[in-house]
Amino acid sequence: MTETAIRIENLTRDFETVRAVDGLSLEVPAGIIFGFLGHNGAGKTTTVRLLNGVLAPDDGTARVLDLDPVRDGPALRRRTGVLTETHSLDERLTARENLLIYADLYGVPRAEVPRRVEELLATFELADRADEPVGGYSTGMKQRLALARALLHEPELLFLDEPTAGLDPVAARRVRELIARLSREGGRTVFLCTHNLAEAQQLCDRVAVLEHGRLVALGAPAELARRLWRGLRLEIELTPASAPAALEALRAMPGVGEVEWDAPVATARVSDREAIPDLLAALVAAGGRVYRVSPREPTLEDVYFALHGDMNAKSDERKKEVLL
Ligand SMILES: Nc1ncnc2c1ncn2[C@@H]1O[C@H](COP(=O)(O)OP(=O)(O)OP(=O)(O)O)[C@@H](O)[C@H]1O
Ligand SMILES: [Mg+2]
Repeated sequence: MTETAIRIENLTRDFETVRAVDGLSLEVPAGIIFGFLGHNGAGKTTTVRLLNGVLAPDDGTARVLDLDPVRDGPALRRRTGVLTETHSLDERLTARENLLIYADLYGVPRAEVPRRVEELLATFELADRADEPVGGYSTGMKQRLALARALLHEPELLFLDEPTAGLDPVAARRVRELIARLSREGGRTVFLCTHNLAEAQQLCDRVAVLEHGRLVALGAPAELARRLWRGLRLEIELTPASAPAALEALRAMPGVGEVEWDAPVATARVSDREAIPDLLAALVAAGGRVYRVSPREPTLEDVYFALHGDMNAKSDERKKEVLL
């Protein structure tokens, strides 16, 4: 098994008027869930299509499982599963028929087919509608079937382009659990395009943020947040009567900064969560009547908005510098 599932160097793809992917370079280690984020039109789907050999690049190279997606397409497709934005199911056929045709196409061993098909239909709660034409399915049912189809040949690398789009909250959660399980237990690599930042934060070991086809951030979600905002912000709930002495103690503590008071909550910045017990002890020693101390770690959503927010060009550049 290769240690690097995907290796992209200077990948570039133009359409008539736009450069959809612009000098993209990155590596995806095998076995992780890699999140691919960015606004509508940022170039996520185009990248997935380049990595699957559906499109050829205008410049740069891509290696997927040590294969060239354009030249080695058939060999690669046997080892990868793809959930595309538009699922291209055959709507005239039933769910079961759709799966059987794909099993054949992807060379699933004959003896394995019935078990896998039934298992997937059950996993995606399609068993009781499995013999109806897919044309009559709801959006979410089609999405679930397309996901089942992508898993049929038990691929070692999965491309999922917005797998939870159009799913109800219960189905979306089940799909997220399934993705996590596939990665954890199956050791599979997942390349996940999503607009759902909470989903990316929860699932992804690493994320890349794309903007106009260019990479603007790359790293683990928590690491990106740490690079943008040093330390940890704490909220400390106090009685107003005890606040003056408590705030004075806070301001005197080494390593504590940005102390503010907005009754009944003080905020302060510390280096990390290890600073909390000492801070609490100092507050209590100063007579602070403390009801709550809650760390508020910045989320991937905070990072995303910081990247795409209204920033002047200079701070924009600075942010991008620290996020790559
Ligand atoms: N076949 C095509 N012909 C012309 N332009 C295209 C084609 N495919 C993509 N593009 C353009 O390339 C850019 C990137 O599109 P892409 O679909 O990769 O974005 P995306 O990040 O997947 O967006 P979304 O979040 O909306 O799915 C867009 O400007 C899009 O209009
Ligand atoms: Mg897309």
